Amino acid sequence: MKLAGKNVLVTGGAGFIGSHLIDRLIQENPANLVVVDNFFLGREENLRPARQSFPGLKIIRMDSADLAAMRTVVQDEKIEVVFDLAVIPLPTSLIYPAWVVQSNVAMATTFCELARTGDIKTLVHCSSSEGYGTAQYVPMDEKHPLAAITPYAASKAAADQVVLSYCKTFNIDAVIVRPFNQFGPRQNDDAYAGIIPIVVRKVQAGKPMEIYGDGDQTRDYIFVRDTVSGIISVYEHENVRHQVLNLGSGREISVNDLVKTMLEVMGVPDHPVIHTAPRPGDVRRHLAGIDLARELLGINPPGVTHENLKETIDWYLQK
Ligand SMILES: NC(=O)c1ccc[n+]([C@@H]2O[C@H](COP(=O)([O-])OP(=O)(O)OC[C@H]3O[C@@H](n4cnc5c(N)ncnc54)[C@H](O)[C@@H]3O)[C@@H](O)[C@H]2O)c1
Repeated sequence: MKLAGKNVLVTGGAGFIGSHLIDRLIQENPANLVVVDNFFLGREENLRPARQSFPGLKIIRMDSADLAAMRTVVQDEKIEVVFDLAVIPLPTSLIYPAWVVQSNVAMATTFCELARTGDIKTLVHCSSSEGYGTAQYVPMDEKHPLAAITPYAASKAAADQVVLSYCKTFNIDAVIVRPFNQFGPRQNDDAYAGIIPIVVRKVQAGKPMEIYGDGDQTRDYIFVRDTVSGIISVYEHENVRHQVLNLGSGREISVNDLVKTMLEVMGVPDHPVIHTAPRPGDVRRHLAGIDLARELLGINPPGVTHENLKETIDWYLQK
């Protein structure tokens, strides 16, 4: 399956991963490319390069959970393929848990409905490794139990169950990608920032880097453009429909080691690091099992490299 000539919608397209997906989709020559984003965290500037290279890009500021509104959009724009990346992020779920659960599940359900009623042809839904909770075994393959810790993680796991139930009950043309931890340019560095932008900002401010807990908690990081390649590949491979595919590197790195590597790349290896109380709901260990993606998609993302870490750091420094 190729995306050339297709009419494509990306929810959350003004966000971190979504905007990189838009950049990549442009290279695939779609006939029509539409972003739906309510700009909760999305930014116009993330789409600036895309607007330049694809002047026909349509950016619609709307709530993607609104089924009636989304039906109108997909009908008006003759959308065939939806990449569903809109999300309210984890830290928000620690403050407004009920709203985050309701929003994240509702957004996914909307596009399941539109697939069920034939308003769209294919749904590629974006899950999260957070749904697994802390590793019960490693590597964590797609059969690992979903044992969400935070309400965000529960909302992601629940949304996946909704998508899979529509696959089984209504045979919708859908697939789920389950990315592990992300990094790369454009990751939000204000409220709800991830660890990489936090390290950069602390170094710039000359303040100690604060690590939650002992820092031995591990994550499997994948660079955002590698994730995006995986998402496109999942669409192209029709044989993976109705499945969940992990997107990670198959390598784990502790928060301590990631911070240490970053400080070395930034040329400040002796920058002070302090440890604070553990964050509620922080998973202890994450390592992706990526055999399915390797075998079925033929991809093998490298994880954190000096080059992609430097590109990411440089982006924050130049911002
Ligand atoms: N960033 C990570 O480390 C990571 C890891 C695994 C999975 N994921 C998943 O990848 C996807 C994209 O995440 P991201 O990191 O790019 O997040 P992001 O917050 O940068 O992007 C999400 C976008 O969704 C938009 N949005 C939120 N609510 C909306 C609504 N009701 N209607 C329309 N738009 C709405 C936001 O404004 C934002 O632009 C999500 O499904 C997320 O769960 C992210």
